[in-house]
Amino acid sequence: MDAKHIRNFSIIAHIDHGKSTIADRLIELTGTLSEREMESQILDSMDLERERGITIKAQTVRLNYRGKDGEIYELNLIDTPGHVDFNYEVSRSLAACEGALLIVDAAQGVEAQTLANVYLALEHDLEIIPVINKIDLPSADPDRVKQEIEDVIGLDASDAVLCSAKTGIGIENILDQIVAKIPAPADKNDKPLKAIIFDSYFDAYKGAIAHIRIFEGCIKPGMKLKMMSTGKTFDVTDIGCFVPTPYAVDSLESGQVGFIAGSLKNVRDVRVGDTVTAAANPTDKPLSGYRGVTPMVYCGLYTVDSADYNNLKDALEKLQLNDAALVFEPETSIALGFGFRCGFLGLLHMDVIQERLEREYNLKLITTAPSVIYHIYKTNGEMITVSNPTDLPETTEIEHMEEPFVKATIIVPNDYVGAVMEISQDKRGKFISMDYIDSRVMLTYHIPLNEIIYDYFDKLKSMTRGYASLDYELAGYQQSKLVKLDILLNGEMVDALSTIVHIDRAQIRGRQLAEKLKEIIPRQMFEIPVQAAIGNKIIARETVRAMRKDVLSKCYGGDISRKRKLLEKQKEGKKRMKSVGSVEVPQEAFMAILKVD
Ligand code: GTP
Repeated sequence: MDAKHIRNFSIIAHIDHGKSTIADRLIELTGTLSEREMESQILDSMDLERERGITIKAQTVRLNYRGKDGEIYELNLIDTPGHVDFNYEVSRSLAACEGALLIVDAAQGVEAQTLANVYLALEHDLEIIPVINKIDLPSADPDRVKQEIEDVIGLDASDAVLCSAKTGIGIENILDQIVAKIPAPADKNDKPLKAIIFDSYFDAYKGAIAHIRIFEGCIKPGMKLKMMSTGKTFDVTDIGCFVPTPYAVDSLESGQVGFIAGSLKNVRDVRVGDTVTAAANPTDKPLSGYRGVTPMVYCGLYTVDSADYNNLKDALEKLQLNDAALVFEPETSIALGFGFRCGFLGLLHMDVIQERLEREYNLKLITTAPSVIYHIYKTNGEMITVSNPTDLPETTEIEHMEEPFVKATIIVPNDYVGAVMEISQDKRGKFISMDYIDSRVMLTYHIPLNEIIYDYFDKLKSMTRGYASLDYELAGYQQSKLVKLDILLNGEMVDALSTIVHIDRAQIRGRQLAEKLKEIIPRQMFEIPVQAAIGNKIIARETVRAMRKDVLSKCYGGDISRKRKLLEKQKEGKKRMKSVGSVEVPQEAFMAILKVD
């Protein structure tokens, strides 16, 4: 395909504004899939994505479209997720494109992540085509939204496409604007190969598969390629594109998007962001790659059955190939044994990884409460970073501590400004600014990340009846008075239950946590004291009373099937239990800190 006829684009939007549905319509209209093959939200291929109705992984698909000039164009669509935790995916996809469709909901208008995503697209110098979706809704107000796009984002919206992914209105217009406005990639076929890996995954039959965008040169099967960061060479066996299922092609040329597979058996050989070149005739300089990702939230991951440790290690390695934002390293807990400390971009990311590990790799996991990364300045002049409360040095060794703050941008209707201010202050937030957007307000706050990961967003949503949208980015470290809150079960400290909290909240958190754990920990044969402590000082105590009867005592009489059922049920309950010393502790206990307040 002549590069003049190629268009590479992403779709960006705030969550739920309709990216995946628009992608469906584009696929449908270009006849990429027959009606029979078409399922709704075809690109959300993971079960988890379908169940939750969100896009987690970016996907690519090649569409062929006959433009108004009668020529056939190859449109490479890269669908991206909208949730703030997956911004990293968005950024990588954008680097493989020349343009982006910016979808804005005609009823809701510009939201916090619309802005965040536009900034990402502008960073990559992309041509942005504004698309106002859901114009079929009775509450749609496309003129107001056009005005918002101009006022808040500063983009010319006079030509914005008005469409409804539901009824199909305007979809053809989107395709025409893609052809007319998005620049074609430069034709550099005769240069040495230079391609960037923007995603990868592990296929049980083919090994590691890399999604690539070629900037210069071309790839044919049988070529020997080289990874520029490691110098590792490999033979290409399969090349192709996604339609959206993998489809073999004879060659991939400059400007095109597709996948390569070959003698790349080790998942670590394929690094997202790396440049691939030809071993025989390499390019002189690699592409600039991607900004490294910084995990914001850490937690411990342990298997319920310690015999599964190696399986967890293997699963994490494979998942990391598909999700470059995931980091992990081995750790040991006195309470939980051998496991991994894992870093995530946010709580949703953590939740998704945990669920993928359990579903795709058949593992039963215990996760510990999430923690941010603290900077600890010691009295001996040293600075250490701590993401596991257990690693906190003795109080006497600590000069002071710093915690990460984020700059949070919240957009809400005027009526809820008071509520947003109240919860932001309650979460130790510092007010920065307030701007009016028509009948809505954009507030910015500096808030400790630690408070955001607890329940800031849930609270924000519930206190604004779901109207608030939130986006945040790391805004540096600030000094805070923090302490370690420990939990003792049956007199023994459980390291996996320790958390770092602000000193002003420590008493109340300790009390709430002890109460919560009392509810969560099932009664056992003996009485279990649950204590919260700061240093040597016990600040709260609750007791889990001893069990009075065993489960079978309920069914005197000899109904064996009923007995079996009860035992099964008890076993079911036990699956997620971990013996900590003499106490059986269920998974929820390790997350209890997120549920207090
Ligand atoms: P994420 O993948 O989670 O980021 O969301 P998304 O932006 O891809 O949104 P998605 O396509 O999943 O659509 C969100 C919801 O809006 C779904 O319930 C769609 O059915 C609905 N929707 C999408 N487009 C339209 C439209 O044009 N009109 C109406 N009425 N509903 C729409």
